[in-house]
Amino acid sequence: MALRADPDGPAVTLDLTGETSPYPFFQYMRRTEPVWHGALMDHTQVPPELKPNDEWVLFGYDGVFQAFRDDRVFSSAAYDKTIGLVMGHTILAMGGKEHHDHRNLVAKAFRATALERWEPSAIAPICTQLVDEIKNDGGADLVKAVTFEFPTRIIATLLGLPRDDLDLFRRLSFDLISIPTDIMAGLNAAAELHDYFLDQVEQRRHTPTDDIIGDLVAAEIDGKKLTDEAIIAFLRLLLPAGLETTYRSSGNLLYLLLTHPEQLAMVYHDRSLIPVAIEEGLRFETPLTMVTRTTTEEVDIGGKTIPPDAQVDLCMASANRDESRWTDPNTFDIRRPRQAHIAFAGGIHMCLGMHLARLETRVMLNSLFDRVQDLAFVVDDGTGAESRIVGLTFRSPNKLPVTFSPAA
Ligand code: HEM
Repeated sequence: MALRADPDGPAVTLDLTGETSPYPFFQYMRRTEPVWHGALMDHTQVPPELKPNDEWVLFGYDGVFQAFRDDRVFSSAAYDKTIGLVMGHTILAMGGKEHHDHRNLVAKAFRATALERWEPSAIAPICTQLVDEIKNDGGADLVKAVTFEFPTRIIATLLGLPRDDLDLFRRLSFDLISIPTDIMAGLNAAAELHDYFLDQVEQRRHTPTDDIIGDLVAAEIDGKKLTDEAIIAFLRLLLPAGLETTYRSSGNLLYLLLTHPEQLAMVYHDRSLIPVAIEEGLRFETPLTMVTRTTTEEVDIGGKTIPPDAQVDLCMASANRDESRWTDPNTFDIRRPRQAHIAFAGGIHMCLGMHLARLETRVMLNSLFDRVQDLAFVVDDGTGAESRIVGLTFRSPNKLPVTFSPAA
């Protein structure tokens, strides 16, 4: 199914299956209709009562930035009616004072300085172990062997879940994330996770622990603590927020480095370049391409007037290639001058886990580069299916076949 940008204009289409790149469509829209009265969805199957009132998409950096900053007019409260059905009332749907108070309570555990303690004790050993398992094999699919696996193991360890529960936790996380395609599996996982996390919270109310659930149980501001339900809603949100995005972004970065071998060599030999490579990877192939807001009142943006109660998609992937901000934005180049991207959103809901995502990816790359050499992309792995980055809302490589030898 493809969406035509302009029925009377050139044949620029958006492949709604995500099989082909959306970037030519985004570029066309940025240049012609950066504030577009339209939808990036196929609504033919949606019953009329469930169709949004009015739909708009923001493609340019300035518009997306403005909408993230103006959280009163571009409200995220509608998350309660979507992901809220399985996760409860989460921080993402909150605004104003409620969001401010809640975020203050949970933010401490995710500060860059608070996360440092996890690097030697949890994150590095997990990444090392995963690479050790494959380093003598001559090659591997890095999606299966590394990128899909490390964020789950890391978050389970940081939360302080028992090692024996990893398989259960992995299954429930996967089922919860599958909710758009398998609603019953998602609902059952949400209920099971509720009971599972409640038990973990109760244990920590009796015996405090040095882990993220322990931090959340102990968190207190002005004598106020998080309730059990608030902690559980937050923990359930961490699964899609923290797992799906990080596994995709690290896969995208590896794909981009493997398909730009001269840049891979630069980063391999000079590890101080890893942080800039991570940022350029997030800009160039944003793992979560868009999020949605609802207008609470009429608003002027980019010369257009959006009415109240309209659904507005903020297309961060398009904003991250805005030519008014980046020279030659369709080129992946870790040497480009530094300029903040918007992959982690902005404003009050700016990603709480961004320091963790960066830390995990840096440690994963270092572990890989320390243990293998001559890393090369396998263009034809004999399956007939090309390895490439796919997806519309979420984007990542379908596989990453590589060859290597153990580092000397
Ligand atoms: C590369 C990886 C990641 C990307 C690209 C990413 C992206 C985002 C974006 C775009 C938002 C805003 C959503 C919206 O406003 O509708 C967000 C919020 C959030 N993210 Fe991330 N995220 C990543 C990793 C993580 C990790 C590792 C965690 C935690 C384990 C996390 C936890 C959160 C939370 C809790 C929020 C809600 C913050 C709030 O509402 O105040 N994220 N993230």
